[in-house]
Amino acid sequence: MAFLGQLRGWILGAALVAILCTTAGAIDIFLEWHVAFDTTAKPLTLDQPVITINGKFPGPLINVTTNDFVHVNVYNDLDEPLLFTWNGIQQRLNSWQDGVSGTNCPILPGTNWTYVFQTKDQIGTFFYFPSINFQKAAGGHGAIRINNRVVISVPFPKPEAEYDLLIADWYYDSYKLIRSVIGDSEVLYHGVPDTILMNGKGPYGGPFSISYESFNVTKGKTYRFRISNVGTTFSLNFRIQNHSMVIVETEGSYTNQITVDSLDVHVGQSYSVLVTADQDEADYYMVATPKMFRVNDLSSLAGIGVLHYSNSVSQVSGPLPAGPDPFDWNFTVTQARSIRWNLTTGAARPNPQGTFNVSNVTLAQAFVLQNSIGEIEGSARYVVNNVSYYTLNTPLKLADYFRNGSGVYQLGAFPTRSVDEDTAYGISVVPGIHKGWLEIVFKNNLDVMDSWHLDGFSFYVVAFGLGDWDEGARAGYNLYDPVVRSTTQVYPGGWTVVYAFLDNPGMWNLRSQHLQNWYLGEELYIRVHDPDPNPAKEQPPPDNLLLCGIFGESGAPAPAPAPWSWW
Ligand SMILES: *[C@@H]1O[C@H](CO)[C@@H](O)[C@H](O)[C@H]1NC(C)=O
Ligand SMILES: *[C@@H]1O[C@H](CO)[C@@H](O)[C@H](O)[C@H]1NC(C)=O
Ligand SMILES: *[C@@H]1O[C@H](CO)[C@@H](O)[C@H](O)[C@H]1NC(C)=O
Ligand SMILES: *[C@@H]1O[C@H](CO)[C@@H](O)[C@H](O)[C@H]1NC(C)=O
Ligand SMILES: *[C@@H]1O[C@H](CO)[C@@H](O)[C@H](O)[C@H]1NC(C)=O
Ligand SMILES: *[C@@H]1O[C@H](CO)[C@@H](O)[C@H](O)[C@H]1NC(C)=O
Ligand SMILES: *[C@@H]1O[C@H](CO)[C@@H](O)[C@H](O)[C@H]1NC(C)=O
Ligand SMILES: *[C@@H]1O[C@H](CO)[C@@H](O)[C@H](O)[C@H]1NC(C)=O
Ligand SMILES: *[C@@H]1O[C@H](CO)[C@@H](O)[C@H](O)[C@H]1NC(C)=O
Ligand SMILES: *[C@@H]1O[C@H](CO)[C@@H](O)[C@H](O)[C@H]1NC(C)=O
Repeated sequence: MAFLGQLRGWILGAALVAILCTTAGAIDIFLEWHVAFDTTAKPLTLDQPVITINGKFPGPLINVTTNDFVHVNVYNDLDEPLLFTWNGIQQRLNSWQDGVSGTNCPILPGTNWTYVFQTKDQIGTFFYFPSINFQKAAGGHGAIRINNRVVISVPFPKPEAEYDLLIADWYYDSYKLIRSVIGDSEVLYHGVPDTILMNGKGPYGGPFSISYESFNVTKGKTYRFRISNVGTTFSLNFRIQNHSMVIVETEGSYTNQITVDSLDVHVGQSYSVLVTADQDEADYYMVATPKMFRVNDLSSLAGIGVLHYSNSVSQVSGPLPAGPDPFDWNFTVTQARSIRWNLTTGAARPNPQGTFNVSNVTLAQAFVLQNSIGEIEGSARYVVNNVSYYTLNTPLKLADYFRNGSGVYQLGAFPTRSVDEDTAYGISVVPGIHKGWLEIVFKNNLDVMDSWHLDGFSFYVVAFGLGDWDEGARAGYNLYDPVVRSTTQVYPGGWTVVYAFLDNPGMWNLRSQHLQNWYLGEELYIRVHDPDPNPAKEQPPPDNLLLCGIFGESGAPAPAPAPWSWW
């Protein structure tokens, strides 16, 4: 087993370095990424900066197995600082690798930095993207697959092939232009995305398209599509002309297998669906269209690709498959509620997913987080409980490690249940009780979709509702088989409730996945501290730790000051 693991390592790894097998079968995978603006890989004919990795947009697939170690040496060839985050990768005991502004100093232009993380006890479909400076609107994203170890069965027959499908809204404007407009303006950027890309390609027949995305299938065979919404703003409804889909997995959980004609994929979410090529040998439209968003002409906003049968004799034809009314709340909520956890199948481990469940948990903490838009010092900002997160150039994780947060943030100052505060900036860090259950109610006070994500954990999505939440709503929670994932949608004027078990010490980002919301303050951090000094708990910082802000030259590696506990 170990030998086979090593063999895979030698084949996959670019570098001929010693391979450490710290977990049976797990291997080290070495990736070198050169990140740049590249006009040759641009999705549309328009002249706009697109972030590529090794000249590619989308970036390369990270294809690993449970417990593998991933080493990504990122060379920043952009003209500004860069960080990548790994959406849904839990970074167990290791928030040092999470790659958001509160955990890491940015990788400065002209320098490189190596992330090293383990895909510990995870399987499933995820993605990565650049997390700072609004760069997400310029691309730089790519797919992550964590495959089951061979000894653990997958709850459906092995598909003929697997395809990654990254769907994303896209602006015709450059991300730098949008960023400059929203930075310190009284108004938000009211331009909405102009088109929808599929794997970095414009729509079939689209006005500025250079090419379109196409997948080959053979009649009678079944394929796994790993679909992620890597965009900035739009929830997307995905469908394939004349074909149904079987939902099997979402963000690392195997779901009850349900068949749908179309699937709502909200910003930051990932799904696996099985598609059987059971129609006449032809070409079929694959379509992604926005949900719950009022724009003048929603109909022109369609991502369009092609499902191509190998012996196809005809090109795509007919109208695009219609899909549900984008404002049909009942459709979308009914579908959301029908996505349940398969309790009996194993996932990363052989024991059934349902063994660890929320049917009888005692809550240690409960947050009610309300988003809205406020004005602070003349600038429009997104707020959570009237606090807009203020991004420091000192990562909170460094401040936590070196001086217990002192002088950087005040733990617990953020109002986790109240909106009776004046709208203001804040360094929002809330204490999470280690090994306690946390209930979070996300209340969306906006008239558009929102989507919340928690780093470091998967949460159990126990309820969706409309109007105001109150404690009486708890009687209606699904505590039997709620799906477990890391990003959940929150409907306009509605609420969503999740439970999380805080067994992963670290500094963890809780954010809106909507880019403008996040960039303008709709986020906070949960600091989960394990007082046990046993060093086998949270990991020490990596050897290549970057220091910045109050701890040193921006981004310059420097000898680390002693952690606060040694002072
Ligand atoms: C991904 O890894 C799995 C397991 O090692 C392998 O079977 C598969 O061929 C790989 N797929 C791609 C696209 O690299
Ligand atoms: C930068 O890349 C070199 C290899 O080119 C590597 O040896 C070094 O460790 C990398 N630096 C960091 C901080 O990861
Ligand atoms: C898909 O099929 C077309 C023609 O049927 C072929 O030209 C193309 O190379 C195929 N693509 C892949 C990735 O197999
Ligand atoms: C798709 O199905 C409809 C009926 O549901 C049929 O009229 C149409 O011809 C089919 N399209 C293709 C390309 O097979
Ligand atoms: C809501 O949608 C479900 C399925 O999409 C349907 O069965 C049900 O009748 C709908 N209910 C209402 C009130 O429209
Ligand atoms: C749950 O997974 C098992 C495999 O472990 C599978 O046989 C069963 O059909 C799945 N249940 C549903 C409802 O999809
Ligand atoms: C939930 O966990 C408890 C305790 O392990 C177990 O008795 C129960 O059967 C589980 N529930 C489900 C639905 O699997
Ligand atoms: C439910 O939790 C309570 C308190 O934690 C415990 O006393 C009780 O035994 C649990 N019941 C089951 C069925 O696990
Ligand atoms: C660290 O900070 C926390 C919260 O601010 C406080 O409760 C704790 O006493 C501090 N520990 C030390 C050793 O200063
Ligand atoms: C909190 O924000 C809400 C919504 O923006 C606003 O209506 C309310 O007045 C604010 N509360 C205070 C005390 O400023």
